[in-house]
Amino acid sequence: MATERTLCIIKPDAVEKNTAGAVLALLESAGFSILALKRTHLPQAVAEGFYAVHKARPFFGELVTFMTRSPVVIAVLERDDAVAQYRKVMGATDPAKADAGTIRKLYGANVGENAVHGSDSLDNAKNEIAYFFASSEVAPSA
Ligand code: CMP
Repeated sequence: MATERTLCIIKPDAVEKNTAGAVLALLESAGFSILALKRTHLPQAVAEGFYAVHKARPFFGELVTFMTRSPVVIAVLERDDAVAQYRKVMGATDPAKADAGTIRKLYGANVGENAVHGSDSLDNAKNEIAYFFASSEVAPSA
């Protein structure tokens, strides 16, 4: 399997509950290296730009309000097959449908407040990483 990078956002609900450290520990236990990490309070325009693909969805306004209500923690993750492996560890979008032991089952509340975001393809991972991090901010793997 090829080594890949993907983007993880620990969302406001999980940061508010002080579970960001637990999420990062779970990811490290699952074999991911954290190449970059920051805590930031997303401005509205940044959240709207990040989720622009969902602009026409009925939940877009709710999603942006949620993502901007308090700080998030954003990480660049690396391991073999990172995009698919992170989606597995993250669990289904709706925490009620997520498998036991996944991040969303453990820390998510509902489909809106679901603890974490993850890139859904390698192309999107590259774009999402570049949206939040300059290449100089992403440490080399080892
Ligand atoms: P995320 O992986 O961050 O990508 C888009 C987000 O939209 C998704 O996680 C959910 O949190 C959110 N979302 C999807 N469906 C709904 C919905 N029906 N109501 C509110 N938010 C939703």
